[in-house]
Amino acid sequence: MALRIPRGALASSLLVVLLVSLVHATNAREPPRLEMVTSAAPPGLTGSRARAAAAAAAACASWRLGVETNNIRGWYSIPAECRGYVSDYMFGDRFRQDCAVAAREAAAYAETLELAGDGREAWVFDVDDTALTNLPYYADTGFGAQPYNATYFDEYVANATAPPLPEVLELYEKLLALGIKVVFITGRHDYQREPTVKNLRSAGYHTWEKLVLKPSSLRLGSSVVPYKSGERQKLVDAGYRIVGNMGDQWSDLVGTPEGDRTFKVPDPMYYVG
Ligand SMILES: *[C@@H]1O[C@H](CO)[C@@H](O)[C@H](O)[C@H]1NC(C)=O
Ligand SMILES: *[C@@H]1O[C@H](CO)[C@@H](O)[C@H](O)[C@H]1NC(C)=O
Ligand SMILES: [Mg+2]
Repeated sequence: MALRIPRGALASSLLVVLLVSLVHATNAREPPRLEMVTSAAPPGLTGSRARAAAAAAAACASWRLGVETNNIRGWYSIPAECRGYVSDYMFGDRFRQDCAVAAREAAAYAETLELAGDGREAWVFDVDDTALTNLPYYADTGFGAQPYNATYFDEYVANATAPPLPEVLELYEKLLALGIKVVFITGRHDYQREPTVKNLRSAGYHTWEKLVLKPSSLRLGSSVVPYKSGERQKLVDAGYRIVGNMGDQWSDLVGTPEGDRTFKVPDPMYYVG
């Protein structure tokens, strides 16, 4: 009779052996050290040029992590040497994978909610680079390496051709199916309501409870936080419970009331305080 070992069992016994040897290693007198593993070099490069390219990519990855964690603040343009890195990130699989993680976690969380059934649970979405992506604009202006061009961006908004971020659109559909109301709070101005409505609809966002745009009369200081958190407070005052809040900037997510949970989609292209 042949002895058959399920592959899973074999893998777990190997894992035990590995764990045991790790425990032995850490019991030895030498403290465990964190070894630096050099990142893979871009194809076609060898030797010191390959090492320099790998180090530059790692430095830009660290910069991006600093941005995403809100450790780096108040910046006006991406580091010039990270332009290629940001372009590769935005157009490669990684950006979309990172969006998918955020959307998946948000959907899993939303599914655990016990809804009251009174239609008062709301989910707040930011518009630019959350519901819609402005990648066409940024690809044309150096991925945030060139200064923000308000004239060009206004044309882009008026064009109403921004594509949806597919992972966010998918989350939006799930939330609606669960019975959660969607509210958009955007830094776009109220005079941009018409193209914004047109763009949201053509991108697949067919319904919403409210679309809040920034009053043109509003004079903001250095931060959009009072405006965005103030609009969330108005929702709460009107009887909504903000169960979730998603944006690409930390200024979408901080400031009471934040919402029961916040979700950040990646954006290494620009900073809005
Ligand atoms: C900003 O955009 C406008 C409209 O597309 C363009 O005419 C202008 O040259 C741009 N300015 C800069 C500094 O790139
Ligand atoms: C506006 O749309 C037209 C036609 O689709 C396109 O050629 C043009 O580049 C767009 N302009 C901006 C600023 O997005
Ligand atoms: Mg945004």
